[in-house]
Amino acid sequence: MDPVSENRTAIVLATGNRDKVKEMRPLLENISPSIDVFCLRDLGVEIEVDETEETLEGNALLKARAIISHLAGRFRRMIALADDTGLEVDSLQGAPGVYSARFAPMPDGRPPAYEDNVRYLLERMQGVENRKAHFRTVIALKGCIQSAGGDFSFEHTCEGSVSGTITLERTGSEGFGYDPVFMVNGTGRTYAEMSIAEKNSLSHRALAVRKAVADLNNILQQSSSPNRQPEKQ
Ligand code: IMP
Repeated sequence: MDPVSENRTAIVLATGNRDKVKEMRPLLENISPSIDVFCLRDLGVEIEVDETEETLEGNALLKARAIISHLAGRFRRMIALADDTGLEVDSLQGAPGVYSARFAPMPDGRPPAYEDNVRYLLERMQGVENRKAHFRTVIALKGCIQSAGGDFSFEHTCEGSVSGTITLERTGSEGFGYDPVFMVNGTGRTYAEMSIAEKNSLSHRALAVRKAVADLNNILQQSSSPNRQPEKQ
């Protein structure tokens, strides 16, 4: 068991995507002096979870569960935090949605790169007037907490979403994925024209993470409440 875990809580970001880690770390790092935030790379973990579910919620839970099983016994108090995100375009009946990472068909069968998906989206949207779209992130938290009062485990999901429009062409060079073609309502700018701090002040992922942190505080308070019944596993 990692020495740091004796009386501290580890939050493990259940993603190998460096772009997401870059955004989520600053949102989580200062939530409490007794919490340590790790990404999979920090822990030397390489794990690919197949996103086989048909909902963002289902896939986020798959990822959080996989990490908790993989790291079983490593921390006394551990919470996996997994994000699954989709871009939902009104005129495409909500596509690419849960398939946002695999939107562009690739003739050689390899997974599409961000650029392939953006090019394909702009092609599909050529001549389309209704360009309304929504970014939606679901965060799954799965926790296993050992304490003197007994073991406690939980699963929880929450979401954040932001509306905008798909631009006619790429604008901006920050961010990742569909950021250069998603203009956020009320800002006149795409996510790719914002720094990480600006994106984190209003993004779908930041909204979901903030809800997750608030919910987590409540869950952890319950876990230390003297009236709590230890969970039957
Ligand atoms: P995932 O399944 O949550 O990893 O996300 C699916 C795909 O959505 C990613 O491969 C990115 O192309 C895209 N994506 C996720 N989050 C964002 C974001 O914040 N901005 C732009 N694109 C994103």
